[in-house]
Amino acid sequence: MRVIAGTAKGRRLDAGHGMAVRPTADKVKGALFSILGSRFDIETTQLLDLFAGSGALGIEALSRGAASVIFVEQSATAARVLRENLQRCRFVERARILQLPVERALAQLGRTGTRVDGVFADPPYGHGLVDRTLADLVTQGVTKPGAWVAIEHHVDESPQAAYGNLHLTQARRYGKTGLALFVADEAMPVAQKDETQIVRAVYPGSFDPITNGHLDIVRRAVSVFDQVIVAVAATSSDPHKDGSLFTADERVEMIRDALADTDGRATADKFTGLLVDYCDRIGARVIIRGLRAVSDFEYEFQMAMMNRHMKPHIETFFMAAGSKHFYTASRLVKQVASLGGDVRELLPPAVYQRLLAKVGARR
Ligand code: PNS
Repeated sequence: MRVIAGTAKGRRLDAGHGMAVRPTADKVKGALFSILGSRFDIETTQLLDLFAGSGALGIEALSRGAASVIFVEQSATAARVLRENLQRCRFVERARILQLPVERALAQLGRTGTRVDGVFADPPYGHGLVDRTLADLVTQGVTKPGAWVAIEHHVDESPQAAYGNLHLTQARRYGKTGLALFVADEAMPVAQKDETQIVRAVYPGSFDPITNGHLDIVRRAVSVFDQVIVAVAATSSDPHKDGSLFTADERVEMIRDALADTDGRATADKFTGLLVDYCDRIGARVIIRGLRAVSDFEYEFQMAMMNRHMKPHIETFFMAAGSKHFYTASRLVKQVASLGGDVRELLPPAVYQRLLAKVGARR
């Protein structure tokens, strides 16, 4: 087993024969570093080598210029071989060995706020450690935004496509060995952000009632913004929307029900007065409006300009309606329902039931 490239190129490493560790085959190690090299810069990175064994992966990274590697290896025998390998390559100063079970090491790193740019993980096969390690990495939050995690696994223990903010981006097979590369979302989870880092967007409207077209916009907006507040206006600027069918509280309640599965990323609220004042009150810098046909544009553009005139620091973002929802409008939905037409597919089921009850009572 030799170092493939970098300052320690060609140096022979003790593979710890006879130990209960399985050193990464040179073929897999070479393939892994060529994948990483094509997408990431290893130089000056801070890395973590889990289930390090004799340390072949972390040492290869140090040879290629990584700033530091934390090696986690539970076995005293393997840790001794690892230390000798580090000495042989003169990498001791850029390395730290945690002689702990991986689960405990990750908890400790999480507690002390350690954040790394990349993680190697080569867990023993057949113990369910692939899933557990990836889940622990997420829970302890030790990866920086944009960090990579390269995990070796038996082909019968393939990982899922995503664990929290870690997403599978590449998967390879070498005989019975699988190699999976995950990348952490660039965006920090909202829970880790402080108030100044959260991008909060308001999606305002009459929502009398909310339709599947509106919900499609909210769900797509949630993948872009940290928090989306669906804000029901008690006063609309549209003269056609004077007499509303549902009260503002009823509308908020229906929206809350429909968004119950978004983990609090999308919420509902109501407001009176100017929209831009409401945005300032709740610390939102973005207004989202959905655009359907060209006919929406003039009215939307006027509102966006007026809002910018009043508060230039608040930006309006237009999102194109989903193609299925191009003709869905609350106004038409209400009219069709009141005349006995079928609007079931255009509304969330609970909203549909409430609309039927409301228009039935009015008829
Ligand atoms: O769904 P709608 O009715 O088209 O939404 C219009 C809404 C609620 C976004 C707009 O009427 C509004 O912002 N009302 C709040 C009062 C306000 O700020 N008016 C000035 C808008 S330039």
